[in-house]
Amino acid sequence: MNEAILVMDFGGQYKELIARSVRSSGVYSRIVPGTIGADGIKALRKELKPIGLILSGGPDSVYDDASIKCDKKIFSLGIPVLGICYGMQLMCHSLGGEVKQGSFGEYGKVKVRPVDGGRPFKALMSHRDSVTRPPKGFRVTAYSDRHIAAFECVEKKLYGLQYHPESAHTEGGEDIIRRFLYDVCLAKGDYRLDEFIESEILQIRKEAGRGERVLLALSGGVDSSVAAALLSRAIPGQLTCVFVDHGFMRKNEGDEIERVFSAFDLDFIRVNAQKRFLARLKGIVDPEQKRKIIGREFIRVFEEEAKKLKNIPFLAQGTIYPDIVESGGTSGAVIKSHHNVGGMPAAISFSKVIEPLSSLFKDEVRVVGRKLGLPGALVERQPFPGPGLAIRIMGEVTAPRLEILRQADAIVREEIDKLKRGPDQYFAVLTDTLSVGVKGDARSYGPVIAVRAVFTTDFMTCEYAHLPHRVLSKISARITGELEGICRIVYDITRKPPATVEWE
Ligand code: XMP
Repeated sequence: MNEAILVMDFGGQYKELIARSVRSSGVYSRIVPGTIGADGIKALRKELKPIGLILSGGPDSVYDDASIKCDKKIFSLGIPVLGICYGMQLMCHSLGGEVKQGSFGEYGKVKVRPVDGGRPFKALMSHRDSVTRPPKGFRVTAYSDRHIAAFECVEKKLYGLQYHPESAHTEGGEDIIRRFLYDVCLAKGDYRLDEFIESEILQIRKEAGRGERVLLALSGGVDSSVAAALLSRAIPGQLTCVFVDHGFMRKNEGDEIERVFSAFDLDFIRVNAQKRFLARLKGIVDPEQKRKIIGREFIRVFEEEAKKLKNIPFLAQGTIYPDIVESGGTSGAVIKSHHNVGGMPAAISFSKVIEPLSSLFKDEVRVVGRKLGLPGALVERQPFPGPGLAIRIMGEVTAPRLEILRQADAIVREEIDKLKRGPDQYFAVLTDTLSVGVKGDARSYGPVIAVRAVFTTDFMTCEYAHLPHRVLSKISARITGELEGICRIVYDITRKPPATVEWE
């Protein structure tokens, strides 16, 4: 049975970061509600071996009536507990210490001084309340300039940190988490993705049974691709993948997806619906309308295909752990029904949904994909919007305009791919602005192409990439030189917010 750290969720935005950093240190972690209680934790022992609890931060004050509190009994289960930020304050408050709202909160990087004379270090703080008197039996182990920054009760294995060790902005944060895992919880470090693959294969076989067919909507994105590879390894010959090619994929992408999956032991159906989608978008310039039309058409095409494939009882989806966490399902139970990955119509009924990646983070999905033999280019794929290039073309989407964008986008990606540490997402946009230029000796009048390249970790915010000018010059020279009718290239220098990553 896997040893596990339970990350108790008190609403903090960093709970996923905590869970990921535990896993990357070799210990399985699961996010559970903060209200789980001692009995809930004991009940989990049927499937896991909880060796430690981490109480996440949260937006509340322990004195708000509405704030999430925890069951006091979790501190006397004999399982080590680490409270972070609100988690520390909750531990303090629950065990009889004092938490107060001071006149000054601490936000951003703050210097922390260990009391035992260890080296001071910078740590990320984000709190208004703070511990003013630790519970009986605890000792303060570090201070910031204004507040208690850490405390502990070694005898009971209870620890509290006012700062966020899970953040990259905390010096040595990773090491602090490792020390909790290995020195306090005495973890063996038995979480390996190889074992995940082996055990998930057995689980899929159990769920799908022998001979039953399973249908997967394959978008070519990382999650559904890795799900396809894993399912075909688990139940060779039982899987049918439907890939709807709407014609808005990037250069060679549709063919590449077909080539990769033809080598796997599964039935691959490519539905070439390019003409159909283009016809529906005729005359449409409004971005929202484009998205809606593409989404609806996708469902129609998929429905038609699924009807042809009668009698497939099981549906598989590439749902991953953050999809479940972000939709509020951190109860530890896998929620099977609410996701509509790939625009799966609700009207199609399946007797069971299989979600083999529902316990993995994105970076883990990529590792599993590589281990299953998927090519790096597919596994490391940048996010790509469902409506594809159609929302990177301002104005009407037509076949010739799609072709121009596809070529320009391929050049942008080829050139930026040469950088050692490239941005997180980069692409070309075909604008609806026409501009005059001169090519050879002739006047030229054609659309302006924009280049977008951003650094981001969460895609909720982003910073535009400060690309070297030699790269921008090369992109500009190549696009204007290789594509007829294009004589002006611009670079997008807006961050998000206020701009979004995509132009439409
Ligand atoms: P925005 O443009 O909202 O994009 O800043 C944030 C991230 O989401 C991707 N994106 C989409 N992904 N369907 C998707 O699957 C969509 O309709 C969609 N729109 C934007 C975008 O590429 C970026 O990574």
